[in-house]
Amino acid sequence: MKKLAAGNWKMNGSAAALSQVQALLAAHPAPSCEMLLCPPATLIAQMSAAARGSALKIGGQDCHAKPSGAHTGDLSASLLKDAGASHVILGHSERRADHLETDALVRAKAEAALATGLITIICVGETEAQRDAGQTLNIIGAQLTASLPDTATAATVVIAYEPVWAIGTGRTPTLGQIAEVHAFLRARLTERFPDAAQMRLLYGGSVKPSNAAEIFAVPHVDGALVGGASLLAADFGAIVTALGV
Ligand code: 13P
Repeated sequence: MKKLAAGNWKMNGSAAALSQVQALLAAHPAPSCEMLLCPPATLIAQMSAAARGSALKIGGQDCHAKPSGAHTGDLSASLLKDAGASHVILGHSERRADHLETDALVRAKAEAALATGLITIICVGETEAQRDAGQTLNIIGAQLTASLPDTATAATVVIAYEPVWAIGTGRTPTLGQIAEVHAFLRARLTERFPDAAQMRLLYGGSVKPSNAAEIFAVPHVDGALVGGASLLAADFGAIVTALGV
């Protein structure tokens, strides 16, 4: 299984930020893991052009469940693909919170993305209140069951475990807590998908150069979904290096 270093630029990145892509590619022309950046949709076409022929893949941060139609402001999976995306992040906790996305909607979007041929990163994760209430595995199990389409395979779907309370806060779970959730994800996926052993499980939430190596050493952590530290080539490159070791 090839590990995956994925960056989620969220609502950040103007055209000037494309210089970070050039710097990343110059420093990591042949990484031993897969590299993915998911910029705002406005940059997908330009970033895809900059990354053409390189080891860097480009993704969207969301897509609509329908293939086309009267949905002002939305983007279908095929529009993302047409712009140069090969991947899409779905069910990020910020989408679930800001846009009230449910597991059923995430699943419908994932079905649309898979039908279009986009590799789909599906996010799950508990809030701090849910963890404090001892509900972490129940919540994640329910999200996993209801957000994943039956057609998911190791080649087409990646799972990202992102504890909501660790996103953008500088706080991370203990390595034991990450290990517990990732082992649980692997076991749950194995009950449902024959190739679950090969399905990539990313950790996300305050991953940075200084903690990447210890997180990547946790069993069943097959890469990272990185927010803030993916915006600068030096930081994201250090995480790419940590994953390749
Ligand atoms: P941070 O790395 O900024 O905590 O964000 C994580 C995240 O939400 C990636 O999708």
